[in-house]
Amino acid sequence: ESYDLGGHDTYMHKEISEQADAVDRALRGRIDDRFSTVHLGGLNLDAREARGVRRVKILGCGTSYHAGQIGAQMIEELARIPSDAEPASEFRYRDPVVDPDTLYVAVSQSGETYDVLAAVQELKRKGARVLGLVNVVGSAIARETDGGIYVHAGPEVCVVSTKCFTNMVVSFALLALHLGRIRDLSVADGKRIIDGLRKLPGQIDEILKGEEEIKKLSAAYADAKSMMFIGRVRGYPVAREASLKLKEVSYIHAEAYPASELKHGPLALIEPAMPTVAIVPDDDLLEKNRAALEEIKARSGRILAVAHQEQEKADHTIIVPKNEPELDPILMGIPLQLLAYHTALALGRDIDKPRNLAKSVTVE
Ligand code: G6P
Repeated sequence: ESYDLGGHDTYMHKEISEQADAVDRALRGRIDDRFSTVHLGGLNLDAREARGVRRVKILGCGTSYHAGQIGAQMIEELARIPSDAEPASEFRYRDPVVDPDTLYVAVSQSGETYDVLAAVQELKRKGARVLGLVNVVGSAIARETDGGIYVHAGPEVCVVSTKCFTNMVVSFALLALHLGRIRDLSVADGKRIIDGLRKLPGQIDEILKGEEEIKKLSAAYADAKSMMFIGRVRGYPVAREASLKLKEVSYIHAEAYPASELKHGPLALIEPAMPTVAIVPDDDLLEKNRAALEEIKARSGRILAVAHQEQEKADHTIIVPKNEPELDPILMGIPLQLLAYHTALALGRDIDKPRNLAKSVTVE
């Protein structure tokens, strides 16, 4: 992949459309079918060390932090290690307890974000084990960490991150699978996840083929002053990232909430002028998510669902192909990248360089 636009009008569009190839690259040479696991050459964490990990703490900023939230859920689900993600900028300033049994993972596209780098340096000073999940080879965070995973998204030029986010989440799935297979994850489950990972590039292309449809939908929602994004458990960080993407690039105000928290406040905002984008995967929480859609409809809220099947209560449903439930978050955000892009285009925004934002924030 190169730095030229290759026939696209913006880097954002180019980078969205490169995602199937990017994911393919993240997987290439890493899958080991014999043992239903993966090889991560640069991890620098042997099986005994991996078995001793009691917690995983992921640190990142912006979109990378959201990738980390999905990653933490994947590690907790597949490797059964308590895991969470926190903005590196917050972690640095709250005098955290640095625990020798915790594995820290710094996630960054550029590998140069100052808040992430400073968190890594503080952790190192306190003797912690820190891995990097980074796109830019040889960057500061890649150099300062003890080992890690390159996400191999290729160059990302647009200030808002799309293909790198997707590759980060895929890389977290690889890490979760690796840690899981060293611990309690069965051969059968390992194989199930590997089969799912292999399906991703084809399914991404299938989603991207729906672009015209999504373009029409964005015209229907571009007049909104504010939008709500909801999801539950696996869907919640997807909603957060989609909401960030929309506000960064279109300047429409958006906020993300766990669907379960609607009744504790944000339901008061629902009215026809405040559309909701709902992440509704076909998983154990489908009925709960449907109940949330009913609550919104009862208040005359417009609903755009991203789902595996048509949602009766939604005004529009974008259908995405089904994968393994643990991997669904990788796919469900992709149509919403296109929604953000086409909304910004309709509003005449400076898509690759949104106002007030920088690709990489290397100062405090
Ligand atoms: C900036 C960019 C965001 C990015 C964040 C973290 O704020 O505008 O798109 O997510 O930095 O960048 P990193 O390079 O660490 O992933």
